[in-house]
Amino acid sequence: MAIKICGTGSCLPKHCVTNDDLSKIMDTSDEWIRSRTGIESRHLVTDETTTFLSVEAARAAMQEAEIEPEEVELILAATISPDYVIPTLACEVQRELGAVHAVAFDVGAACSGFLFALNTAYAYLKSGQYKNALVIGAETLSKMMDWEDRSTCVLFGDGAGAAVLKDVPGEEGILSLVQGSDGARGMVLSCGGREIHNPYVKTERKLSYVQMNGQEVYKFAVRTVPLAISDAVEKAEIALDQVDYFVLHQANIRIIESVAKRLHQPMKKFPSNLQKCGNISAASVPILLDEMNRKGMLKKGNTIVLAGFGGGLTWGAAVLTW
Ligand code: COA
Repeated sequence: MAIKICGTGSCLPKHCVTNDDLSKIMDTSDEWIRSRTGIESRHLVTDETTTFLSVEAARAAMQEAEIEPEEVELILAATISPDYVIPTLACEVQRELGAVHAVAFDVGAACSGFLFALNTAYAYLKSGQYKNALVIGAETLSKMMDWEDRSTCVLFGDGAGAAVLKDVPGEEGILSLVQGSDGARGMVLSCGGREIHNPYVKTERKLSYVQMNGQEVYKFAVRTVPLAISDAVEKAEIALDQVDYFVLHQANIRIIESVAKRLHQPMKKFPSNLQKCGNISAASVPILLDEMNRKGMLKKGNTIVLAGFGGGLTWGAAVLTW
C-alpha cells in the first residue's frame, strides 16, 4: 500500500506588491528586506478570499489526479486565516467543489499546517478509513498583519496550494513523516484570539495582529529543521545524499541556506519561490511543490523531502517518492 501525491495545484492573488511598493507606504527599503530575507515581492488579496484561492488550487490538483468532486472522501484545510471561524475553510471548499461525500475539517498548525494536514491525511488513508484526501494549505495573512509593524508585515504573502493523496497499490509514495511541537516557546510568534467578553466580564473589543520575535524564530528554525529532516530521512531508511529536492517552508532564504549547510547539501537541491511570494505560512510548501511539478522538475522516482516550521512552535517533515 502506498499513499501517494497524485496531483498538485496552487493559486496566488493577482495583486503583486514589490518591496519598492512597500517602501512608498512605510519606512522600509528593498535593500533591507531583500538582504535579510531574500523576498522581492509578494501577492496580496484584494477581492480574493481564502476559500476562492483554495478552490482554484484544489481544482487544479484534482484535475491532475483525475478525481471528481463526488469521489473525494476527505478534505483537510491547513490555515490560520480562514474566511470564517464557522464554517471551516474545509467545509467552504467542500461546498464550492460539490464534494458531497467528503468529510471536511481544518488543521491549525500555522506554518507547519500543510505538513500536519498531510500527516493526518496519511494516517486516515493508511488505516483504510478513507481512500483519498484533498489536502490544502491556504492563507490570507495580510488581513492579520499590523501594517504599522514593518518588522513583520513585509515578510508575509497570500496564496493557496493543494495536493490530492491517493492509495495507489504497487507504487511508492510517502515513506516517512515526523512532526513536533513546543508550546512552551509559543509566544515568540503569536496572534491573539478574542478577549473574554460576556454579560459578566466586559473587555474592550479589539483586534489582534501577528506579532513575532524574529530572531528567536530564526534560531528555532535553523536548529530544529535540520534535526526534523534528518529524523525523517533516517525513518525512511535512505541517506540524505539520495534526496533530490528539499522543499522547505519559504520563510527566509537565510534560514534555507543555513539548513542546507547544516545538512551538508548543495543549495541547488533547495528550490525556492519566497523571492516572489514571501512567507505564505501553511500554503508555502504546497505552492512551491506545485510550481516544481508544473515546471516538470519532478520526475517519477525522485526522492523529495517536505519540511515546515513555525508558530506553535511546530515543525514537521516528510520523505516521499514522486
Ligand atoms: N525595514 C527597515 N528596517 C527594519 C524593518 C524593515 N522592514 N524591520 C525592522 N527594521 C529595523 C528594526 O527597527 C531594527 O532597527 P534598530 O536596530 O535601529 O532597532 C533593525 O531593523 C533590526 O535589524 P536586524 O537586527 O538586522 O534584524 P534581523 O537580522 O533580526 O532580521 C528578520 C529581522 C525578521 C528578517 C529576521 O529575524 C528573520 O527573518 N527571522 C525569522 C522570521 C521568520 O521567518 N518568521 C516566520 C517563521 S514561520
